[in-house]
Amino acid sequence: MTVLVDAINHRKPSGTTDSTVLGPFHMVESPHRELGANISLDHNGEPCVFAGQARSSDGTPLPGARVDVWQANGAGYYDVQQPDVQPERNLRGLFVADDRGPFWLRTVVPRYYPIPDDGPVGQLLAATDRHPNRPAHIHLIAEADGHAPLTTHVFVEGSPYLDSDTVFGVKRSLIRPVVVVDDPLRAEHYGVANPFRLLEFDVILDPGPGGTRP
Ligand SMILES: [Fe+2]
Repeated sequence: MTVLVDAINHRKPSGTTDSTVLGPFHMVESPHRELGANISLDHNGEPCVFAGQARSSDGTPLPGARVDVWQANGAGYYDVQQPDVQPERNLRGLFVADDRGPFWLRTVVPRYYPIPDDGPVGQLLAATDRHPNRPAHIHLIAEADGHAPLTTHVFVEGSPYLDSDTVFGVKRSLIRPVVVVDDPLRAEHYGVANPFRLLEFDVILDPGPGGTRP
């Protein structure tokens, strides 16, 4: 039902990034972090650079776009699920794209995870003979002046459960590979050792209704 509501409320203008569900774990305000910061405070998972471009649907870069990112760690848990284990605000960050539109940060490759399946949700899953798992993903909310905010995920290519996400949030257009890059200059740019893992995902925003540009 949540995904149906998303589909009805967010009809996709051509050329913009697909939206998907917010999910239950955007529970706290993400801390503002500098471009290139490492949001993995517990270092639980395979290190990875996450990078992309913020652009308008006509291709114009969006300097100053705000990209709020949050994800599970390499064990499949969010900070709010493990307050005694993970540092506060682990794997969360609010980034501002630079003066040409790119954003980049250091993190870990997220792992798939089961949604909490006690209570009514568990009963519903059991009654419909479905598993509780979501494929590996990073959540984003992207905003830029004059554009409609975008709530979405990037899904990790090759993750288990891409074809059977328990909340039906997967869209093919949102799946990206984690690739190994051997490029000393790019490694230096991102502040990581070469070679490095890279997940790239551009956010293309809609300047139509919902934007605030006069
Ligand atoms: Fe999630």
